[in-house]
Amino acid sequence: MPATIDPVSALLDWYDKHARTLPWRAPRGTTPAPYHVWLSEIMLQQTTVTTVKPYFEKFLTLFPTVEALAAAQDDAVMAAWAGLGYYSRARNLLKCARLVTDRFDGRFPDTEDALLKLPGIGPYTAAAIAAIAFNRVAAPVDGNIERVLARLYALQTPLPALKAEVKEKNTALVSAHRPGDFAQAMMDLGATLCTPKRPNCLICPWQEICVARQTGIQETLPKRAPKKPKPQRVGTVYWLENNKGEVLLHRRPDKGLLGGMLCFPSTGWDAQNETDLPSSLPDQWARLNGEVVHVFTHFRLTLTMCAQTAPKGFRKPRNHIWLHPRDFANAALPNVMTKVAKTVLLG
Ligand code: ADE
Repeated sequence: MPATIDPVSALLDWYDKHARTLPWRAPRGTTPAPYHVWLSEIMLQQTTVTTVKPYFEKFLTLFPTVEALAAAQDDAVMAAWAGLGYYSRARNLLKCARLVTDRFDGRFPDTEDALLKLPGIGPYTAAAIAAIAFNRVAAPVDGNIERVLARLYALQTPLPALKAEVKEKNTALVSAHRPGDFAQAMMDLGATLCTPKRPNCLICPWQEICVARQTGIQETLPKRAPKKPKPQRVGTVYWLENNKGEVLLHRRPDKGLLGGMLCFPSTGWDAQNETDLPSSLPDQWARLNGEVVHVFTHFRLTLTMCAQTAPKGFRKPRNHIWLHPRDFANAALPNVMTKVAKTVLLG
C-alpha cells in the first residue's frame, strides 16, 4: 500500500460526500437516537436496506420510543413485523425493549460488552450500535465489510474462516475519532461501489491502495468454501373454510421456527407443529393446483395444498382462529403462509 494514502481519511472523505440518506441516520455531525440505531440494526440482520426502510418507518410511527414499544401488545408487534421474516427477531425485540425500559430507565447501555448481554444482540449488532449510536471504537463486520476488506488486503482465506481475519484487520483499521461513520462508510462502500459483481473501482476512494485491484482479482474475492446443499422438506397444508368464508389458522408455539406466528394447519415438515386436523375431519380433502416453495435458513420446503369446507358442528381446536382472507394482510402471517394464501386464492 503506498504510504501516501491513509485509508481511514480517504474513506471518511468519501463518506462525507457520498453517504446514503437512510431513515435511521442522523444529519452529519450529529449522533442518531440509540433507539433508532438499535431498531434498524435488528431489522437489518439478514434483511436488505430496501426491505427494511418501510418497516423502520412504520415501527417509528406505531412505537415512537422504546417505552412505547415495551408497552405494546405482543400481537401488535408481531403483526407490524409480519413479512420481515426471522420472527425470533421480533420476539427478542420486545424482550429487549421491556428490559431496557424496566431495568435501564429506557436508556440503552453504551458499551459493546453491555449491549451484547441484551436479547437479540449478537457480536455484530453490539459493535454496530456501540459505534453508530455511541461513537465507541468498535468494528462490526457484516457481509459488505467482509467483501471490502477481503479485497483491500487481497485475503485469500475462504469464508467462513475469513471472518476472523477480517475482524482483526477491521479492528486494526477502525477510526478512533469517527468509529460510527467509519462503520457506516464501509457498509456504504460495500453496498454501492465494492459490490459482489462488477465493482466500480474507478470511483472508489481505495482504488490506489486496494491490493486485489492491483492484480485484477477483486471480483474473485471473498472466496467461499463450497456450500452444502440445503436439506429438502415436503409438507401438506390444510385450507379449511367455514360458511362465512373464514379460514382456519393455527397459532404456533412461541418457541422455535415461526414461533408465535399464525400458520395454516399443516403436516409433514415440522414435527413440533404437526396438526391432527386431517384425522378429525372427513377424508374429503380436495388437492389444489400448484405448490409453494420457500427457502428457510436451514432447509428448502415444498408445500402442497388441499382444501375442504368445515362440516356442520366442527369446532376449532385450541390455539386456532378463524380469519377472513381480507384480514390476512393485517395479521401476523409469515411469508411462507402468505405465499400459500396467494396460491390458493389466485389459483
Ligand atoms: N446494514 C447493517 N447496518 C447498516 C447500517 N447502519 N446502514 C446501512 N446498512 C446497514
